[in-house]
Amino acid sequence: MKARKITAKANAKVNLTFEVNDVMADGYHEVSTLLQSVDLKDKVLVEVSPSEKGRIYISSYQANVAGEFPMDESNLAYKACDLFLNHIEESGNFEVKIKIEKKIPIQAGLAGGSANAAASLVAMNEAFDNRLNKEEILTLAESLGADVPFAVTGGTCIGTNRGDKLESIKNQTKLYMILVKPRYLSISTPMLFKLYDKYVREKAEKAESLDASKKETLILSDYYEINRTSQEGRNTELASLALKNFDLEKFFQNLTNHFEDVVFSLHPELESLRDKLLELGCWTANLTGSGPTIYGTTPDIEKANLIQRKLIADKLNNPQSAYYKHGPLDHWVVVSSGDSAKVIT
Ligand code: C5P
Repeated sequence: MKARKITAKANAKVNLTFEVNDVMADGYHEVSTLLQSVDLKDKVLVEVSPSEKGRIYISSYQANVAGEFPMDESNLAYKACDLFLNHIEESGNFEVKIKIEKKIPIQAGLAGGSANAAASLVAMNEAFDNRLNKEEILTLAESLGADVPFAVTGGTCIGTNRGDKLESIKNQTKLYMILVKPRYLSISTPMLFKLYDKYVREKAEKAESLDASKKETLILSDYYEINRTSQEGRNTELASLALKNFDLEKFFQNLTNHFEDVVFSLHPELESLRDKLLELGCWTANLTGSGPTIYGTTPDIEKANLIQRKLIADKLNNPQSAYYKHGPLDHWVVVSSGDSAKVIT
């Protein structure tokens, strides 16, 4: 094979709903989530050439993405290329240079790293003349992380199991949103799941007033069981059904994120930010994924732009607001997208 240069893109995602239902034996959580791609995307260039050294290099088009964006083998794009080469049994025969154009904010709950991994997989596949089919790409995606299969698939999907078992939803409604993130705040997903476990345990203990000897016999999933209400996954189900039926009122009523209680008690300033978005005219405002980004929905793009302008004015009028404690607010007006990860050139 001669050298190939392929660029692919993949979109950011928003969790319109996010429900944590249970904990599995391997420590992962069983969730129900309504996932939506938005038109904020990263591009990944892979340059593949025959080489006995078999090295993978990673860089970015922008100088200023460093921070939390690792330029080494811990980057999910690097892992994706490495996994792809291993899987097709070509590891050690090729050198790969990865170059990423970041638009999706890092550690924001928008699956930017997963989008880079997804774009890397489809670019690598193109470089090797589509040696793998869609199913095989999705299997590789699954092993890279819970959000990577959706980053490959895109559009609107219900995600169950770890959030990686996907059912595509036909969505003909354009959704307009403003995404807002305090620039220097990030929340670790594994840490948040641990805090959520603690929250579930405490809630169950309160409900059952468990004595010490009983507590000793319980494992974490028992606490989830005690809290079970038969409503697991209900908001996700109802929101997706409403979307299919063009029942927007019902759809907006069911937007939820189970992490909010924990995240808002850890960072009350994010709750104030959520309230601010509602005050400025968003129809709904919720945390996406493990945050810290809050997404607000609006009826149209003009309203989203207007709210964005009001948010800029707010910094001048209310500089003391708690949500500025992590630096300025970054914000993006976005529209839902039906795109999957795909090759551009
Ligand atoms: O799969 P991913 O690497 O994105 O997940 C990061 C971490 O978040 C996992 O190691 C796990 O601790 C937690 N997680 C979870 N349940 C999920 C998804 C993620 O517990 N459904």
